[in-house]
Amino acid sequence: MATLSVAGADSTAPKLLVVGGGAREHAILQALARSPQRPRLLCAPGNAGIAELAHVADISADDVPGLVELALNEQVDLVVVGPEGPLVAGLTDALTEVGIACFGPSAAGAQLEGSKAFCKAVMEAAGVPTAGYRVVQTVEEGMEAILSVSDAAAPYPAVIKADGLAAGKGVIIAASEPEARAALEELLVEHRFGTERVVVEEHLVGPEVSLLAICDGVRALPLASAQDYKRIFDGDRGPNTGGMGSYSPVPAIDASRAAELVALVHQPVLDELRHRGIDFHGVLYAGLMLTASGPRVLEFNARFGDPETQAILPRLRTDLVELLAAAAVGGEGLQRVKLEWDTRSAVTVVLASAGYPQSASSGQVITGLETLGAAPGDELYVTHAGTALDPQGRVVTAGGRVLSVTALGSDTVSARRSAYAAAEAIAFEGRQLRRDIAEQVVEHEHA
Ligand code: AMP
Ligand code: GLY
Repeated sequence: MATLSVAGADSTAPKLLVVGGGAREHAILQALARSPQRPRLLCAPGNAGIAELAHVADISADDVPGLVELALNEQVDLVVVGPEGPLVAGLTDALTEVGIACFGPSAAGAQLEGSKAFCKAVMEAAGVPTAGYRVVQTVEEGMEAILSVSDAAAPYPAVIKADGLAAGKGVIIAASEPEARAALEELLVEHRFGTERVVVEEHLVGPEVSLLAICDGVRALPLASAQDYKRIFDGDRGPNTGGMGSYSPVPAIDASRAAELVALVHQPVLDELRHRGIDFHGVLYAGLMLTASGPRVLEFNARFGDPETQAILPRLRTDLVELLAAAAVGGEGLQRVKLEWDTRSAVTVVLASAGYPQSASSGQVITGLETLGAAPGDELYVTHAGTALDPQGRVVTAGGRVLSVTALGSDTVSARRSAYAAAEAIAFEGRQLRRDIAEQVVEHEHA
């Protein structure tokens, strides 16, 4: 395969390959590009926006042999993996075997995300607070489990989770017995997600927060807190999506509270994994619910969150190249890294195409991108997800989630105003966006 020449770059600068092609990967690349090390950046497969700041190679994020070949040919210093699929498929293991450093856990570590049953077993062994649960294999066992994990007199809503990767669609909150039975049948009889097992969980209530930590196998260093918005419509209505917006930080989770949560949640999980012979290098993402009886883990992901990353990384003042390399390589490196944050708030608004999340229209011309500007004192970051260049060189839609717009502002009011002004200035047919991203934070700031 021909090598990609990175024009004009200093050949001694570190060379990084980012795997993925969404707004999360675009945000990672923008942050890497701000590094004083002036890294040479490659991305596979990338998208139209990413192509403006990195060399893109047309290799799918799921093509493990193709990515290893690219990394070898390019002699990259570090691979950074965005999505969960290649992690679960063993990309990190394959790169490690050929001596290339990779930010992202091994397939064994990625099972924290890839298997809800494994994740629950690790949390139980590590003493991490989470919802009560049972793992079941038949519909009848599942119906029984619903009565045993919660108050048998009021067992609904019941939480039913497919034991495998399901692109955010494998969690069903069943409001009644018929709904629960239908969900169990879908998962265990029709095998909608190819799962043989289901986790039935106690239903919890409370605000949700995402707390991501950078891990070097031994230690976990918390990033700033964030919250995402999973439903398509305002007021958390409608079907789940890949994420319609986010903000950072979450006011209730400042640095000292984040450190406490990492000591309660992430560190015990890392210790338990090491005990099982797994050194977890990468992002350990805890989806937490802050319940009346304390924080509980709803899920772990083994990677950066999307769209949390788009709100978190623009606030990071520390060199991301150094941070990710220290975590990937291990040793003492991460201990020397001190994370510095911009004190401003970030708000991210996602623009989606018509029909999303059920379908995705493509080929609609996107206008307004060239003339975007932020209010004085604010900063704007546009990241592409489902975009492509048409034969005339115009940016067009090419997927469900099309773009994210992040603004940094002195407070959430100002970040929100700038993010929405920019989001409104970007136009394409059928554009969908939520109007209530970070609204409750603004209400809280002014309470
Ligand atoms: P997960 O992919 O496990 O984070 O679940 C997706 C969403 O389902 C979460 O963001 C919550 O809104 C909801 N959820 C998951 N587990 C529970 C639970 N035990 N109780 C209440 N809601 C839950
Ligand atoms: N924001 C949810 C996720 O990345 O899974």
